Amino acid sequence: MNDNEAAVSESAKRGFALFNGRANCVQCHFGANFNNSDFRNIGLFDGKTLTDSGRAAVTKQAGDLGKFKIGPLRNVALTAPYMHNGMFKTLHEVVDYYDDPDKVVPDAINRDPLLAKPLGLTAQEKQDLVSFLQSLTDNRFSRMTAKP
Ligand code: HEC
Repeated sequence: MNDNEAAVSESAKRGFALFNGRANCVQCHFGANFNNSDFRNIGLFDGKTLTDSGRAAVTKQAGDLGKFKIGPLRNVALTAPYMHNGMFKTLHEVVDYYDDPDKVVPDAINRDPLLAKPLGLTAQEKQDLVSFLQSLTDNRFSRMTAKP
């Protein structure tokens, strides 16, 4: 993001290309912090086992069912577990979810049309996306929080 080509691995660069391209992540996560002030439904509400209705609990609007705030991705490798309910323990699990949401939550209510079709990522492409997400770690910050 700072035009220093040597700063990240080839895998992270391929992951960034996927993030901006075929994997569609950039439609929701963008800008300097890869977030957005919007609330969106990525399919983690089914009214059965996943019962947090998200934004709708506040607005009482049916159209807000299952919508959650789009969090920033800076330093995301340091902040497991993921999503509002912590249901994914690793970034690999997050990427597996986005690859094929139906496999994890088959009866999601109102999932965003951007996530309507499986992405069909290969194992290498999934690793590349994870490498990209890991490259968003600010090492100064991780040293500050690392235990001695
Ligand atoms: C339709 C909009 C949308 C798209 C497309 C999208 N995301 Fe997200 N993302 C969200 C929302 C909303 C959340 C928060 C969900 C929650 O809290 O339950 C989120 C959460 C995350 C998180 C967890 C953040 C945390 O701290 O818990 C990661 C990592 C992430 N997204 C990565 C990606 C990647 C990688 C892609 C592309 C494969 C992607 N997202 C595509 C909307 C989107």
